[in-house]
Amino acid sequence: MSHEITLRQEILERVKAIYSLRKSEEEFIPGKTKVNYAGRVFDEKEMVAVVDSALDFWLTLGAEGREFCEEFKKYLGMKHCLVTNSGSSANLAAISALCSPIIRNPMKEGDEVITTAMTFPTTLNPIIQNGLIPVFIDIEEDTYNIDASKIEAGITDKTRAIVFAHTLGNPAEMDKIMEIAKKYNLYVVEDTCDALDSIYDGKKCGTFGDFSTYSFYAAHHMTMGEGGAICTNSLELYRAALSIRDWGRACYCQTGERKPMGACGHRFDFKFGDLPEGYDHKYVYNNIGYNLKPLDIQCAMGIEQLKKLPEFTETRKKNFKVLYDCFKKYENKFILPRVLPKAEPSWFAIPITVKEDAGFTKRDFVTYLESKLIETRMLFAGNILKQPGYKDINCRVVGDLKNTDQVMNRTFFLGVYPGLTEEKLEYMTKCIDEFFKE
Ligand SMILES: Cc1ncc(COP(=O)(O)O)c(C=O)c1O
Repeated sequence: MSHEITLRQEILERVKAIYSLRKSEEEFIPGKTKVNYAGRVFDEKEMVAVVDSALDFWLTLGAEGREFCEEFKKYLGMKHCLVTNSGSSANLAAISALCSPIIRNPMKEGDEVITTAMTFPTTLNPIIQNGLIPVFIDIEEDTYNIDASKIEAGITDKTRAIVFAHTLGNPAEMDKIMEIAKKYNLYVVEDTCDALDSIYDGKKCGTFGDFSTYSFYAAHHMTMGEGGAICTNSLELYRAALSIRDWGRACYCQTGERKPMGACGHRFDFKFGDLPEGYDHKYVYNNIGYNLKPLDIQCAMGIEQLKKLPEFTETRKKNFKVLYDCFKKYENKFILPRVLPKAEPSWFAIPITVKEDAGFTKRDFVTYLESKLIETRMLFAGNILKQPGYKDINCRVVGDLKNTDQVMNRTFFLGVYPGLTEEKLEYMTKCIDEFFKE
């Protein structure tokens, strides 16, 4: 065993050396090196954590997953957390859990869900996948968030939930949304995939609704490579989401303990439905579920990334300000993002809309930036109803989707992630200024 400890230490020291070597070779040459809009920001600690976990060779979700969940829910001040293999899976498990027969008041096929058509596809998809009807309302043109003042117009006696994302980290109007949800007894799912560490009225985004979901894809506020999480304060909803994530099984005992009779000691002691008396609880399915679990190796990385989150958030805010101040000089050409008085965003990116009379188009501007090797991105699906895969979905649209269409036609975003060094930001602002000189 002691020989293994020595070998392991040697390996981990070599891993640190590889990190240092790569770091020392990093170079930014303006106009030659690509300026990414996002990316993983890490040091030797993440590399060591991942290799160490790989050497354990436990592989499937286990101790690192449990530790990550403990730390993550503590960070948010939530009661329950589940890790998933992506933010999309987190959304799927959360919405499916709200349709689960094991909760007291599940949503049923044909029920309506208020949401936006300016969306990331997998915020919407679980609504469709569960046979629910999305009811689309417009967004605000400058916060890019669900327009809370329009929600009530979409509510009927079939409405059961409000599902939305805090767009690019900008908190939605949570007090108004929660007030409406309470008035009409609606579930609220906060897609917080782009808004980890954003705050509304002194509370973290993701802590208001019934469920919040997170993505740890490499572009996000912190990363596991791929990965996600679901948080809730309800034990009932947590158990439903856990079952959906884990094949639909009924047993919610902690896994990985390898106790023959299960962690509860009652594996063969129950009678379920038409199954024989004492049928193994591990193989009882009370939901139609999936397998949406990540690997323990991913969680090992997540534990290290979470420690860096406060620092990442500060840098995101600083980087946003640099780009915001630059675009502010051209306010006659662009619509700049607006933040609600109670909101404190931890920006995922900076959204910019080219004004109709700017004298150039979004395409002109992003083509210019890309030619300078500055990555740009669209605000996700734009108006998802115009996307080929969504042509025939069963849905309802309330009012017009003017601002949604505007995003599709004239909005793009630039990164603000902590990997943007001062020299990269300087290059970006210089290129933006030059566009107006040319
Ligand atoms: C708002 C939003 N929701 C969900 C997702 C899906 O997350 P993932 O890529 O981890 O599946 C994303 C992805 O970037 C997103 O931006």
